[in-house]
Amino acid sequence: MKKLGILISGRGSNMVALADAVAQGRISDAEIALVISNVATAGGLAKAQERGIATVVLDHRGKTREEHDRTMATELHKHEVDLVCLAGYMRLLSPWFIREFSQRILNIHPSLLPAFPGLDAQKQAFEYGVKFSGCTVHFVDEELDHGAIIRQAIVPVLPGDDDHTLASRILVEEHKSYAEAVKLVLSEKFRVEGRRVIEEA
Ligand code: GRF
Repeated sequence: MKKLGILISGRGSNMVALADAVAQGRISDAEIALVISNVATAGGLAKAQERGIATVVLDHRGKTREEHDRTMATELHKHEVDLVCLAGYMRLLSPWFIREFSQRILNIHPSLLPAFPGLDAQKQAFEYGVKFSGCTVHFVDEELDHGAIIRQAIVPVLPGDDDHTLASRILVEEHKSYAEAVKLVLSEKFRVEGRRVIEEA
């Protein structure tokens, strides 16, 4: 049984998508061991609790990045977490944390990386005028929105879209892509060559 730890800062819809995928057996032989939020008012906390998932609030304020990350790591280790999933976690991770969970941290980003890293990716893409955007699930390395890509999904920009309608359609794909990526990583049926994640039959 593999254990997932999910880090959130907000509404937690990707966390719910992963929890549902586990509950419905689309991600098998796994459980969500813990959801950590750095924000006490994050909407995702109640959604996790409703699903019987353990939650912890760890306020980052007044701590250095690494101090905060060490506190998170203590909780994650206490729950024997194998894989850390960032799901709208709005903080950079320290190099220490990334080494501690080396190749075991995933992130979801709402654009087709390497286009539009950083905040408000859907708005960046919309304003740039791209005809297609989408989402990316990737391993986390020390650069923002940069690690090896596990899954991407394409979403067209439609006539009449604004950045909000585009973001909602991307979100639907995020939920599917994240579950697929977690399933693949837990299956260990892949190898990484440089930046390339290659699925094995
Ligand atoms: C998602 O768009 C995700 O790609 C980005 O932050 C947003 C989080 O949404 N990293 P939610 O909290 O999972 O609903």
